Amino acid sequence: MASYPELKGRTVAITGAASGIGAVAAREFAAQGAKVALVDIARAEAEALAAGLRAAGYTASHVHCDISDEASVQAAIAAVTGAFGGLDVLVNCAGGYTKMLNIEQMPVEEFDTVIALNLRGTFLMCKAAIPPLKASRAGRIINIASISGRTVHATSSPAYGAAKAGVIQLTRFLAWELGPHNITANSIAPITTLTPRVAALRTPEQVEQMASTIPLRRLAEPIDHVNAMLWLASDAASYINGVSLDVNGGRVMF
Ligand SMILES: NC(=O)c1ccc[n+]([C@@H]2O[C@H](COP(=O)([O-])OP(=O)(O)OC[C@H]3O[C@@H](n4cnc5c(N)ncnc54)[C@H](O)[C@@H]3O)[C@@H](O)[C@H]2O)c1
Repeated sequence: MASYPELKGRTVAITGAASGIGAVAAREFAAQGAKVALVDIARAEAEALAAGLRAAGYTASHVHCDISDEASVQAAIAAVTGAFGGLDVLVNCAGGYTKMLNIEQMPVEEFDTVIALNLRGTFLMCKAAIPPLKASRAGRIINIASISGRTVHATSSPAYGAAKAGVIQLTRFLAWELGPHNITANSIAPITTLTPRVAALRTPEQVEQMASTIPLRRLAEPIDHVNAMLWLASDAASYINGVSLDVNGGRVMF
C-alpha cells in the first residue's frame, strides 16, 4: 500500500462509508492517519465500523446523513467541521441502484429515486462542502461515478447510467469553478467491483464469465478504487483536475 504522509491529520468525509468501496476507503484513509467522517444513512453499520477504527487507534466517527436531503446534508457537513475543525477531502461514494429496468418499463418514480441518490446527493454534498473546502490548504473532491456513466457496455439501469454521467460532468464544473481556490475535483469510474454485496448476487461462474471480458481477467476489488482515491487526495495529484479516472481493468478504453 502506498503511503502518503501528507494525509496524516487531514479531515476526510466519505459518504457511503458503511459498506462496500466506501468502507474500504474509510479504513485506508484512517490507516494513512487521516481523520475520517463516515457519512452514511446506515446508522448501526457505520457506527460499528467507526468504533472498530477507533479501537484500532485511528480517528473516525459516524455522521448520520441522507445525502438526498438538503437539510440532512447541511447538518452532516456542520457535524464534520464541528467535530474535526474543518474539511480537506470529500469522497462521494454513496450511490447505486436496485432495479434493472429498461427505459420503457421504468416508472418515473424509480428514475427520480435513482437520480436523487446518485446525482442530487452528490450535488448536495459538494455544494455544502465548498465553504470548508475553500478554507483547506489542499481541498479535494473525489466523486465515485461508474463505467455505466461512461458507456453502455452491459445491461444496467438507464437512470443510474444517466446519473453517473451527470456526476462526471458535475465534477468537471466543480473543477472549473473551484480550481482558483486550490480545490481539485475528479471522478473515478469503477467497473463491477467485488464488494460483499456484489459477490453475494453472483455465482462464481458468473464472476468468471464477467472477468473473461476484462483484459486483466478479474473484476475490480474495492482497494483498486481506494488506491486511486488515496492518490487523488495526495499532494502527488495536486495538478490533476477535472479528470474521470477509468478503473476498469481495460474493459472499455476511451
Ligand atoms: N460495486 C460495484 O460494482 C460498483 C461499480 C461501479 C460503481 N460503483 C459505485 O461505487 C459506489 C459504492 O458502491 P458499493 O457497491 O461499494 O456500494 P454499497 O451498496 O456497498 O454501499 C453504499 C453505501 O451507501 C449508503 N447509502 C445509501 N443511500 C444513502 C443515502 N441516501 N445517504 C447516505 N448514505 C446512503 C449505504 O448505507 C451504503 O453504506 C457507488 O456510488 C456505486 O454506484 C459500484
